[in-house]
Amino acid sequence: MPASQLADLADLGLDEGGHLLLARALARLAPGERLTVTGRHPALRIHLAAWCREHGHQAADADPPGDDAAQAGRTRAGPTGPAAAMVVVKGRAGERRWLGAVRAGDAAGPPETRADQTWGLAARGALVEAGGPPIGAQWSQREHVWTDIAPRLYAAAAASQWDPATAVDWTAPPRAFSGSAVPEEIERAVVQVMTYLVENEQAALIIPARLLSQLHPHYREVMQLLASQAADEARHVEVFTRRALLSGGPLGASSAGGRASLQTLLAEPDFTTASFLLSVLGEGTFLDLLHFIHDHAPDQATADVTRLALRDEARHVAFGVAHTAHLARAEKSYLGTLRQSVERRHATLLDTAGLNAEVFDSLVLLAAGSWSPEAIRRGWQAVRDLQDRMDEGRRRRLAFIGFPDDEAAELSALHTRNFM
Ligand SMILES: [Fe+2]
Ligand SMILES: [Fe+2]
Repeated sequence: MPASQLADLADLGLDEGGHLLLARALARLAPGERLTVTGRHPALRIHLAAWCREHGHQAADADPPGDDAAQAGRTRAGPTGPAAAMVVVKGRAGERRWLGAVRAGDAAGPPETRADQTWGLAARGALVEAGGPPIGAQWSQREHVWTDIAPRLYAAAAASQWDPATAVDWTAPPRAFSGSAVPEEIERAVVQVMTYLVENEQAALIIPARLLSQLHPHYREVMQLLASQAADEARHVEVFTRRALLSGGPLGASSAGGRASLQTLLAEPDFTTASFLLSVLGEGTFLDLLHFIHDHAPDQATADVTRLALRDEARHVAFGVAHTAHLARAEKSYLGTLRQSVERRHATLLDTAGLNAEVFDSLVLLAAGSWSPEAIRRGWQAVRDLQDRMDEGRRRRLAFIGFPDDEAAELSALHTRNFM
C-alpha cells in the first residue's frame, strides 16, 4: 500500500517535541493507513521505532538498502533533502484506548440527575477514558444536593469576598459612637456574645466542609458554593475573635448546653437534613440575631463585623432554603424526614440548658445600654421581640419549603434555644 501522507520533521528529534508532529499527522489517518516520515535528526530511526512500538504502530524503513540518504541519516545532515525516510502504519491502539470513553455530562448545561462514580475527578463535560479510579462520593444524585440558583449564589459569593484586615477599623480600644470608651460592663457583654458567636461559626464552618468532602464534583457549583461558605465562616471566626480581643481582656464563657446543641448538627449524616438544620433553621435564626447585635452595637467594630457576617449569612440561608425546597418538591415524603430531624434534635437536647444564660443576659444589656431598671426592662423586651422575629422567620422559611402553617409553627417552636 503506498504511503498516503507525509510528515517532514526537518532536524527536529522525537526527544524534543517531534512526536507532536507525528501524532498530528497520524490523527488524520485511519488504522492501517501509512505515513511517510522524513527527517534529518541523527537518532530519528531509533526513536521512531521505539515510539511506534509504545503507541501500537508499525514502523518500517522506506529507504532502499544502500541508499545514500539512509547512510547520511545516521549522522546529522545539512539542510538540503531528507536524510532518513520511514513509513509508519497506523495501529488500532489509540482507537481502543478511547473505546468505552463517555462524556461526563455537559459542561455548559445543567448537571446530570446522577453523577457516575467512575467519572471520578473528571471535569463536567470531559471525555472520560474508562478505567480510572471511582470517586466514591456519598452524594451523587442531583436532587439530593442541587438547586437551580446554586450557580448564581456562587457567583455572588465570589464577587462579595471581603478582607477582614481592612473591612473593619481594628483601632483599640473600642470607642463608643459618642467617642468615649465603651463602658466596662457593656464591653464584657460584647465579648461574651462574640465568644458565643465564634463557637457557632466553627460549627457552621465544619458542616459545609464535611458535606463538601462527600459531594460528587460533577455538581461543581454546589462544591464551589460550599467551599466559599466554609471560607466565609473562617472569616467570621476571625472577625468575631478579633472583636472579642479588641479590649485586651479574656474571652467569655462557653456553655456545655450550647456546645451540645451545636454537636448535634455535626452528627447529622444526611446532606439535606444537615443543610436544613444548619442553614434554614440555624443560620436563618442567626440572621435576626446578627441584625439585633448590629442594631444595638455599642461601637463601630461590633456594628461592622455583624454587618459583614450578615451579608454572607443571607447567601448561606438562601442556598439551604432553595435546596431543601427543591428536594421537598421532588420527593414529597421528604418533609416527613425533615420533621423527624427537628423532633430528634429536640429530644436529644431536652435535658440541656439551651442558650448560655450569660449570652441571653449580655443581649439584654446590649439592648438596654445601661443598668437603670427602665433600660433593663427595655432590653429585656427587645430580646423577647427578637425571639418572636426569629420564630416568625423560621415559620416563613418552613412554609416556603412546603410545610403547612400549623406544622411550621410547631417545628419552629421545637428549634434549639441556642438559636443555631
Ligand atoms: Fe457565619
Ligand atoms: Fe453561615
